[in-house]
Amino acid sequence: MTQKKPLALITGASSGIGVELARVFAREGYDLVLVARRQAELDTLGDELSAAYHTHCYVLPCDLTVPGEIEKLVGRLPKRPVDVLLNNAGVMQMKEFAQDDIQRQLQQIQLNVLALTELTHRCLKPMLKRGEGRIANLASVAAFQPVPMLAVYAATKAYVLSFSEALSEELHGTGVSCTAICPGFTDTPMLRGHKHPQRKPPALPLGLIADPAFVAAQAYEAIMEREVIMVPGLVYKALTTLSRLPPKGLVRGLVGGVGRYMKKKK
Ligand SMILES: NC(=O)c1ccc[n+]([C@@H]2O[C@H](COP(=O)([O-])OP(=O)(O)OC[C@H]3O[C@@H](n4cnc5c(N)ncnc54)[C@H](OP(=O)(O)O)[C@@H]3O)[C@@H](O)[C@H]2O)c1
Repeated sequence: MTQKKPLALITGASSGIGVELARVFAREGYDLVLVARRQAELDTLGDELSAAYHTHCYVLPCDLTVPGEIEKLVGRLPKRPVDVLLNNAGVMQMKEFAQDDIQRQLQQIQLNVLALTELTHRCLKPMLKRGEGRIANLASVAAFQPVPMLAVYAATKAYVLSFSEALSEELHGTGVSCTAICPGFTDTPMLRGHKHPQRKPPALPLGLIADPAFVAAQAYEAIMEREVIMVPGLVYKALTTLSRLPPKGLVRGLVGGVGRYMKKKK
């Protein structure tokens, strides 16, 4: 009898980092559950990965922000254990808070916080029962300090980081781990703008914009090593370490100053 491959569930697998996570996990011998709203993109990726690696891809389109949809999604999962849950789906709304549409701001909390929390809870119990599993949550370097113009987004990522760290302590000794992945700027449609995916990413000094394939490869290693926090890339590792050293008020003042400067320049 052929041994079944382990199974990884990836949310936000229709674009950016999620696509690259799917490629890495397929290459490493996983079958996949691919989740996002756009079925055509998921189908194309599923075809690519089954041709390249004989990966079995279960395509489950789902809007994770619609009440009741996550429960339905879990009910549609294949009748085999989920070995790795990757909560990658996320949205970022860059605008001054008071000037933006409140529904768009709330959508970030709905997806980045509520959906991630609910899916984790629903997948965790079977993992604990089996005494084996891995959970990875996409946070961001924005989790480490407040970020003007991204006030709600950065706050959702601070939640993801704090939640993941606390959960990883609760899970100690259970065979289940939780890893927070904290990328810096990464060249995906989120950074380029979804309406202009062909547009070049913002001009930043060399090394500050990561390739999503690099982020996914680093994430895979950290998840397998059951690391608690992983920041891809040396520059961002240094920046996130340094940002925790000075008093909080100083860091807040500095990022606030940069935000006000950017606003004046616009
Ligand atoms: N790019 C960066 O610079 C960067 C930096 C740090 C952290 N991150 C984090 O990394 C993760 C992936 O970001 P990315 O850059 O790869 O972004 P992306 O290319 O915009 O991809 C976002 C993914 O989330 C899915 N998604 C959005 N709304 C959804 C919903 N309501 N229900 C289900 N799926 C939904 C999208 O699929 P559909 O549209 O098909 O639903 C898409 O697959 C996010 O959590 C992001 O916050 C990104």
